[in-house]
Amino acid sequence: MTRLDGEWLLTGAAGQIGGILRTGLRPVVPGLRLLDIKPLTAESPNERVYSLDLQDLPGLTEAMAGVQGVIHLAGIADEADFRDLTEVNIVGTYHVFEAARRASVARVIFASSNHVTGYYPTTVPVVPDMPVRPDGFYGVSKVAGEAVARLYADKFGLEVACLRIGSCRPRPTEPRHRHTWLSPRDATAAFVAAMSTPDLTYATFYGVSANQLGWWDREAGRAIGYHPSDRAEDHLGGATWEPATDEVQGGVLATAAYTLDRQRPIRTSAIGPNERNR
Ligand code: NAI
Repeated sequence: MTRLDGEWLLTGAAGQIGGILRTGLRPVVPGLRLLDIKPLTAESPNERVYSLDLQDLPGLTEAMAGVQGVIHLAGIADEADFRDLTEVNIVGTYHVFEAARRASVARVIFASSNHVTGYYPTTVPVVPDMPVRPDGFYGVSKVAGEAVARLYADKFGLEVACLRIGSCRPRPTEPRHRHTWLSPRDATAAFVAAMSTPDLTYATFYGVSANQLGWWDREAGRAIGYHPSDRAEDHLGGATWEPATDEVQGGVLATAAYTLDRQRPIRTSAIGPNERNR
């Protein structure tokens, strides 16, 4: 079953990758349901829009009725306060998978991130079944999302792919992108491969373009039919760059300040010191 013969629902459709996939998938599937907390407008007869928060499990379940598959993009796409990430990226992802189960959706593609393994040094080639090493709370939230995804594949038989996206940008703009860039065209190709690969049970692969440099395995992507075509070096000129060997793959997200600067102050409880120490 290729799963391209029915409607698909995109969460986070108003976001950057949502916009790319909305255009790229229009000719690929018979119908698209576009869901986001931000307002959206249908732009073609095969689009339907849904203004919904990931916290609304009954709403998500209703929106998914009759769809063949779901691409789950919605969430906080950067480091943030741990409690916000928990609510939106972990509880929200649980709601998406649970709604998919309740609505008997066949396949879910989860937009995970390279930051689930961002603490590996730049000298270490990483394959998807290595232990996770998140580089911040955002990465932790994506690790939890992948765990939810795996549970729904194992326990409830959903067909699931986790796509660990690199740096999806119109063009590579910084040296790290020599290793991590994912072009819009290749992003569409990666999702279409995950949507259409036959006999999927559970798969994890890195979404990265055909850059000459790279830290991440490409075999798992090839195995499900993902064949990227763009190369970061074609856009970055002749400048060469190699990270220091003591750097980690996550780049600036892996620094302590990047995480700590984004945490809200912890409220102190009203109880007195004696009670607290009990
Ligand atoms: P984005 O920030 O542009 O889009 C996220 C969308 O999710 C937004 O439209 C936002 O309104 C929506 N959203 C947030 N909270 C919501 C809620 N509670 N209910 C409903 N909708 C909500 O992010 P982008 O770049 O499009 O990324 C999409 C996904 O891919 C994210 O999950 C991100 O973590 C992941 N990813 C993206 C990478 C990139 O290079 N852009 C790299 C790695 C992973």
